[in-house]
Amino acid sequence: MGGFRNGQIAWNSRERTLYLALASPTLQPTLMVRPLPDILPVPWPVGLSEPPARTEDALRRAAALLADGGLVAIPTETVYGLAADASDADAVNRIFVAKGRPATNPLIVHVADVTMARPLSAAWPDPAERITASLWPGPVTVIVPRGPQIPDNVTAGGQTIAVRCPEHPLARRLIAMLGRPLAAPSANRSKQLSPTTAGHVLDGLGNRIDLILDGGPCSRGIESTVVDCTTTPPQILRPGPISRSELEAVLGGPMADATDPADGDAALLPARSPGTMARHYAPKTPLEVSATAVETVASLLQSGKRIAWLTARTNDPQVRSLAASHELLVVPMPTDPAAFAACLYATLHAVDRRSLDRIIIDAPPKDDRWRAVIDRLQRASTA
Ligand code: TXA
Ligand code: MG
Repeated sequence: MGGFRNGQIAWNSRERTLYLALASPTLQPTLMVRPLPDILPVPWPVGLSEPPARTEDALRRAAALLADGGLVAIPTETVYGLAADASDADAVNRIFVAKGRPATNPLIVHVADVTMARPLSAAWPDPAERITASLWPGPVTVIVPRGPQIPDNVTAGGQTIAVRCPEHPLARRLIAMLGRPLAAPSANRSKQLSPTTAGHVLDGLGNRIDLILDGGPCSRGIESTVVDCTTTPPQILRPGPISRSELEAVLGGPMADATDPADGDAALLPARSPGTMARHYAPKTPLEVSATAVETVASLLQSGKRIAWLTARTNDPQVRSLAASHELLVVPMPTDPAAFAACLYATLHAVDRRSLDRIIIDAPPKDDRWRAVIDRLQRASTA
């Protein structure tokens, strides 16, 4: 961008950045403006074997941007991902910059099918074979020994690689169109709530990215289960939509859950999986999980606090009587764990906009089906 004249305006299409040179001794470009990314709707009605033409056009534009080193937010069944060509170290580096993510936290590599996954690994352990054969495409990520193809920054220099084949047909079609795997963390600033709509992505990342594909709300609403297949037995590093019992059925034997204090050595987890730092997935409003929510809410109201209360017990007379307060917003939540997970982040995003003093959530039942929700609520509420 040398040779600028004072007052000159230049559009750099590679960087999607508008440069304006102002009076300065060096006449270097001093003001940079990046536009907000386009949001392209990518509907794919159920029952159609091929996507509609305008969806296919949007995918082609996304694939071209990715091939050129750009960042594209894409829908998956879990949460929106911030995708870059996994074989392009510069593009991958842009992901870390856009998210404000520490370089020590490795990324998940997304593939169109298991055939694309195997060459990324140095070995394909039997548990990885079983899990991928039965549960892919789907919301489960396997960690395997890493092969040489993928640049170091994807795995944060580590000797293992996380691989996932999304259930969402659009994500797989885009990867197949590009012909290469995509590195994609959740499309949010580091440590903040994951996005489950295109609007959440725009709010969180804005002009830091090049394009958003809008595939509507994510059906699962919570990040994939992460399974380390390099240990014996395999270990859950992050609980998710695929439960431990489903995994054990597929593996034909018991496994460990490193996030469960009753089971794995939870204290070692951050070193094993850096993204599992205690505070994560957090709204800005302080969040508290309460087993005695009626009392907690009543006493907070008494001290003049403004509260949102996420509860399934909207017919409980005590809840109804508290709900009369203008300082309390009661948000009805589903009683089924999958339905609860599907709307959890969207509810937290919406409540977080209201500048309340506190979010209270009823403590979920302590059972395997609620494990992923309990894990995310724990991280969201750690001060
Ligand atoms: O559902 C999902 O997995 C979403 C969608 C976009 O696919 N992606 C996602 O990515 O949640 P991210 O980066 O937000 O979380 C990835 C997690 C982090 O906790 C990271 O530390 C861990 O996976 N991880 C990635 N590679 C790893 C590796 N080689 N060993 C251990 N943990 C790894
Ligand atoms: Mg994330």
